[in-house]
Amino acid sequence: MAANSENRSSETFRLFSSFGGNFNFGFGFYDSPAVPPPPPCVEVLPTEASSSVKYTVEPVNLDGLTLLKGRVSTKEVFALSNSDLVPGKYEGGLKLWEGSLDLVKALRSEVGNGHLSFTRKRVLELGCGHGLPAIFACREGAAAVHFQDFNAEVLKCLTIPNVNANIEKVSQLLKANATDCESGTEVRFFAGDWSEIDKLLSYARDTNKETDCSSGNGLDHGYDIVLMAETVYSTTVLQRLYQLIKKCVRYPNGVVYMSAKKHYFGVGGGTRQFLSMVEKDGLMAFSMVAEVADGSSNVREVWKLSFK
Ligand SMILES: C[S@@+](CC[C@H](N)C(=O)[O-])C[C@H]1O[C@@H](n2cnc3c(N)ncnc32)[C@H](O)[C@@H]1O
Repeated sequence: MAANSENRSSETFRLFSSFGGNFNFGFGFYDSPAVPPPPPCVEVLPTEASSSVKYTVEPVNLDGLTLLKGRVSTKEVFALSNSDLVPGKYEGGLKLWEGSLDLVKALRSEVGNGHLSFTRKRVLELGCGHGLPAIFACREGAAAVHFQDFNAEVLKCLTIPNVNANIEKVSQLLKANATDCESGTEVRFFAGDWSEIDKLLSYARDTNKETDCSSGNGLDHGYDIVLMAETVYSTTVLQRLYQLIKKCVRYPNGVVYMSAKKHYFGVGGGTRQFLSMVEKDGLMAFSMVAEVADGSSNVREVWKLSFK
């Protein structure tokens, strides 16, 4: 596990607390004795973007790169107020978590130093919420960018409008109910639980037919780059998230970029817990891309995973 000191520029990362109080990095669980069954897996079409929920937009400056982020009311969408997430019902996708900004910055740095290219790549963002990392991939010329969130409502009320706001060419296409933008990027949106969403994801490997993702059978399958920010907070889902990743990453050269907190106090997850599971499995190697220790919040990290 080699930390890339060049990219460990914590001084370039800031605490993003100034965007109108939309940031609350604690986990406010409702008392929930039993987690309900997950919502069904569905593809959400761009034309299904909500027109009834109020969506406002504001700029986010990421060390010189400006992206637009939307804001919608959790109360309006889910009839929830002041809650980070409600397990099994709403998993936090309407908030912009600081890890997604860390991830965009790290990806930008990786592209800048020649370690990563999105050009003509297939990209999947798991647990996308606002989807800023995958929006960055669209802007960098990816061939296909697929956004996944637990809740269809998040995709309809926030992710699609965010894509629309950030990418003019895609925006024209979304209005025309098409999935290819002029630059050739296929943009699609999928809602559902990580335990079953692979059935819908067009490039995921069918593990009923292919039990060994390193066998070479999956060469035509998989995403070149899988992105995820703040998805490893809950110990109960780490295993199913990792199983999904193994079905989705293209063998042998696909990579995963993951940003998250080192530990999520109170809920037990974190990068180290996730990576210890990956290490025990033995299929993938990992290296640190960035560490964000600004003293004002929990230590955050960005990691890259690839096949050994
Ligand atoms: C803390 S939010 C992070 C959102 C966004 N990546 C960010 O950093 O702003 C966690 C994300 O993971 C998704 N998620 C959590 N548990 C999930 C599950 N079991 N299946 C599918 N998606 C899940 C949520 O819908 C949400 O988008």
